[in-house]
Amino acid sequence: MSEKFYITTPIYYVNARPHIGHAYTTIACDTIARCHRMLGHDTFFLTGTDEHGQKIERAAQAANKTPQQFADEVSNQFRVLWDRMGLTYDDFIRTTSERHKRGVQALWRVIRDNGYIYKGSYSGQYCVYDELYVDVVGPGAPCPECGRPTETVQEENYFFKLSAFEDKLLKLYTEQPDFIRPETRRNEVISFVRSGLRDLSVSRSTFKWGIPVPDDPKHVIYVWLDALSNYITALGYGSGDKAKYEKYWPADLHMIGKEIVRFHCVYWPAFLMAAGLPLPEAIVAHGWLLFEENKMSKSRGNIVRAETILDVLGADALRYFLLREVVFGQDGSFSFDALVQRYNSDLANGLGNLASRTLTMISRYFRGEVPYPSHSAARQPADDEIAEVARKTISEFGSLFAQYQFSRALESAWSLVAAVNKYIVETEPWTLGEQQDEMSRSRLGTILYTSAEALRIVTALVHPVIPDSTARIWAQLGLGDIKKFQLTTLKWGQLQLGTKLGNVEPVFPRADKITIERMQKMEDQPKAALAEEPKQEHATQAQPAAPGTQSAAPPPPVTAASTSVDGKISIDDFAKIELRVGQVKLAEKVKGADKLLRLEIDIGTEVRQVVAGIAEAYTPETLVGRKVVIVANLAPRKLRGLESNGMIVAASLEGGKPVLCSFLEDVPVGARLK
Ligand code: MSP
Repeated sequence: MSEKFYITTPIYYVNARPHIGHAYTTIACDTIARCHRMLGHDTFFLTGTDEHGQKIERAAQAANKTPQQFADEVSNQFRVLWDRMGLTYDDFIRTTSERHKRGVQALWRVIRDNGYIYKGSYSGQYCVYDELYVDVVGPGAPCPECGRPTETVQEENYFFKLSAFEDKLLKLYTEQPDFIRPETRRNEVISFVRSGLRDLSVSRSTFKWGIPVPDDPKHVIYVWLDALSNYITALGYGSGDKAKYEKYWPADLHMIGKEIVRFHCVYWPAFLMAAGLPLPEAIVAHGWLLFEENKMSKSRGNIVRAETILDVLGADALRYFLLREVVFGQDGSFSFDALVQRYNSDLANGLGNLASRTLTMISRYFRGEVPYPSHSAARQPADDEIAEVARKTISEFGSLFAQYQFSRALESAWSLVAAVNKYIVETEPWTLGEQQDEMSRSRLGTILYTSAEALRIVTALVHPVIPDSTARIWAQLGLGDIKKFQLTTLKWGQLQLGTKLGNVEPVFPRADKITIERMQKMEDQPKAALAEEPKQEHATQAQPAAPGTQSAAPPPPVTAASTSVDGKISIDDFAKIELRVGQVKLAEKVKGADKLLRLEIDIGTEVRQVVAGIAEAYTPETLVGRKVVIVANLAPRKLRGLESNGMIVAASLEGGKPVLCSFLEDVPVGARLK
């Protein structure tokens, strides 16, 4: 039987819509889950939403909604976004679901029946933001965790005998040094527990939005006991069907942000010990994503939405950036500049360039079939050096990844990308491609085989990080479905001679200067628009965004500042649209699409591929040589798998065929319309 691997994200509070801080944790878990699946492990990946407690109740009140209505809407937003990002969670748990409530009450009963819950009364300070009892004195005293004013709580509560677990917890941390990672967090937890644990209030009786305490419904269960239990209730704990629980519990990894370490590393294991249940294997805390030097959070108003990045650069760009740029475990900054710079340097120029030149040359010089690497005279030390770097990368990447050192693992993979790109530049296969003698052909075959094999290896290694684009490169390499590939078998030399390449097309179109501006604008939309209530979309209707394409993207939003009340735009806004005169060099029908034509259009500075929906109005022959107007700075989009770089301007007639914009006088190619 295959090894199992159970991984969880924290469940996210529904007081705020998702942002890239939440996406960060979920992407890290998705990457780990994908990697385990590729290693052949029976993997279960859980995420979900935390919907009870005073904080949510108040947020709902402020939005004039019932807590359930409010929770339904925001929980749905998380789910829709996760689906749109192609995150491969196996289950999404909501704490307002019946299965969860039943499980939490079952856990409560076991802990109570084991003698670890007693009735008392609590009088002290409470931080609603952190849902945390805090040890500070005086009404309004600031919370030691977040600095917000605390509230005085005086109520009858149930207490959990946390004090009984001090020694057991310390023993756990000593015997299982990897239980809490990284080391800094482990040390913090140890000193917190060593300083003495007081019993913990685990119920509230002054508000209603929570799970009723069994046999005493005047109380609701403390939201953290409720929330932490999700890790077992999702597996069926407390229900008639325990199959998943038996199979997957204990969790192999709870991934969390560093601010919730105490709940996971102290309270959660103590609750489990009290219930006599096995403990998770490991808890890994990552740092915060900062924006403008502060933790990204709704209350600070400095959040960045994942949707903006998905619309403009695609999910893989965000995944790669977060895992490459932020040292896992430490805080890291997000900026659009850094995102675009990484995207261009590592994805467009690095991996993208390697894939497109290697595959294009195999297509051109070997009719799309992987050539034979010569073993004899045509072989040079540089070829073996690449093989050696690749072997080293396979083992280095694996061990860094296993320690969740994503950034270093990716650095290692990209050193292979850089080595092969350099090798290609130095060996100049395009020059050899012009020669017909046997030696040149043999040398060319060796270089292209070596490059393609290195490309295959990087693609397999980084598939868990950038799943969409690597799946496409894999298919272009003629290797079929990357999901079927077993990572454990990866080694140099597996690429078969004669493998027929798939359709070769660019995977990471270069992002231009306006990309940053565009994303910033999308984020700067008036706050009112952001606060707008989410549409009730059904999760399954969400379409995953094609990487690097913007077909699902709305037109760049115009900011309030530049829009006049009657919807007119300023001349500056119009100036952003780059309209140019182009000349059609090539026109052909797009297979399987009645309305589409593939055009190659000379715009003076370059020849662009544009896919246009004009096939019913114009035959390809009538277009070649014709001058047209194109929107030259439109972000690329995909149509039927073809990248369209610009849009032809045409009059759109109601019920009729489009009519291309043209000139009576002769105009030079490349002229700008303004
Ligand atoms: N509901 C609790 C967790 C209960 S788990 C049983 C909670 N929710 S939260 O929505 O406030 O945050 C949950 C997690 O989201 C954080 O622990 C972290 O993993 C992630 N992040 C939220 N904002 C983040 C950043 N700005 N940066 C990095 N991660 C962030 O706490």
